[in-house]
Amino acid sequence: TILILDFGSQYSHLITRRCRELNVYAELMPCTQKIKDLNFKPKGVILSGSPYSVYDDDAPHVDTAVFELGVPVLGICYGLQEMAWNLKGKVSQCDHREYGFAQLQVSKISNGNKSVDALFENLGDEMQVWMSHGDQLSEMPTDFHIIGHTQNAPYAAIAHNSKPFYGIQFHPEVTHSPRGREIIGRFVLNICECKTNWTMEEFIGKEITRIRQICGEKGRVIGAVSGGVDSTVAAKLMHEAIGDRFHAIMVDNGVLRLNEAKQVHEMLNNDLGVNLTVVDASELFLSRLKDIEDPEQKRKIIGNTFINVFEEEAAKIEAAAEAEEKQGAEAKGRVEWLLQGTLYPDVIESISFKGPSATIKTHHNVGGLLKDMKLKLIEPLRELFKDEVRALGRLLSIPSHLVQRHPFPGPGLAIRILGPVTREQVQILQHADSIYIEEIRRAELYDQISQAFAVLLPVKAVGVMGDKRTYEQVIALRAVQSEDFMTADWFVFPAEVLRRISSRITNEVAGINRVTYDISSKPPATVEWL
Ligand code: XMP
Repeated sequence: TILILDFGSQYSHLITRRCRELNVYAELMPCTQKIKDLNFKPKGVILSGSPYSVYDDDAPHVDTAVFELGVPVLGICYGLQEMAWNLKGKVSQCDHREYGFAQLQVSKISNGNKSVDALFENLGDEMQVWMSHGDQLSEMPTDFHIIGHTQNAPYAAIAHNSKPFYGIQFHPEVTHSPRGREIIGRFVLNICECKTNWTMEEFIGKEITRIRQICGEKGRVIGAVSGGVDSTVAAKLMHEAIGDRFHAIMVDNGVLRLNEAKQVHEMLNNDLGVNLTVVDASELFLSRLKDIEDPEQKRKIIGNTFINVFEEEAAKIEAAAEAEEKQGAEAKGRVEWLLQGTLYPDVIESISFKGPSATIKTHHNVGGLLKDMKLKLIEPLRELFKDEVRALGRLLSIPSHLVQRHPFPGPGLAIRILGPVTREQVQILQHADSIYIEEIRRAELYDQISQAFAVLLPVKAVGVMGDKRTYEQVIALRAVQSEDFMTADWFVFPAEVLRRISSRITNEVAGINRVTYDISSKPPATVEWL
């Protein structure tokens, strides 16, 4: 394991990903982590960048025990400065903040047998790197030497004379440093000598064993499934581990996509063999959503109603389990666990030393669910990034169209119907959305787009059909490309595809006479319209 200590840089999770892409397990922890409290011994430590200056009063500092661990340490940007600060170097503000590309000149080292340092071995004399800093090293820490410089940063890369301590001012984890992956590889593979045993095949085996150990011989697990990648993969993994002791519950909230509940049932139950109950609660949800326009209120109502319905269903499963127990033989035990499809980015967000970042919209999840039942949480995906979950899904034989599926928000179509939500409005939007996605798939563009969906606008516009004037509703189409949905760009469709989509929607969906395409990026817009 590589331990990555996070000082709050926006790129910290990328360092973790780069290590894992090399099949080396890496774990991100807050920089305030005490080394003596670690429950594993890392093979190496990476100190991340940070928005702070090391000499700020409130600057985060590392437990200096990392320098006594006897393992290699790599400091990136602030990490370099933090290392120097602790090892008696000097850091000061740059005359000019450096932000952007720079050329790194790799130093020729005359002592020893190597001509360049192990960190840059076989990477050439010069490479493009990405800088983003306001401070830099102005004096070398004791017993360090320079291994690379740029025009503005004489100490752009440094190494200890005898210990495996390295510092680099640039960011190897971003794609703007084209050889950055290789530099991280030199550190993780050659210098730390990590084994490349972090693979999804290994993960499945270990995780199934872990789940079996946690859940023991008896006791049931319940979990919600939505038809999305995360909950499907988590459910399948639980099924592999404990079979029918896992119960999946799907709540049809009336604002799902066209035929979604049916499709999820077919796939999870028939194809993947998961024990699944689909609850049609659409009447209840739609009655509570009646006349509600405010997006936050829609989210709250859906979130709370979901909890009510899920709890009711969980109680039924528990009652059945209790009855079975009374009869004695072969009982599978009571409901003890709640499965959650939490992913690593959610974990990272909540472990940050700064605390969770501010959310702009209240995202619906199953948070304080089932307090009375005192269920323990089980989160088999909490170590994984989204693309790792997809790889896991493929290995678990989940169909690829599902594994590659765009995300779908918990409050569903309710936040894509801009006015009040009624069954009629839901049907109009479901129909338009299914045509849109069908045509995107037909044009083989689905995998190039991060998220695509239709939105039903609360306006009416005039049109003409045959000889008749129409006065009907408007559909807006949204398609974005995004790495992490914090920022997003609108997708550039070939005109032909848009033409076909528009013509099909206006011809086939009763009640729609106009289609528009949303060309707003995030920020300033958001991905969803509500
Ligand atoms: P925004 O609209 O915030 O969307 O730019 C970013 C991503 O989050 C999804 N999203 C939600 N997901 N509950 C969810 O589960 C919500 O309330 C919610 N609101 C937005 C959105 O679909 C996009 O992928």
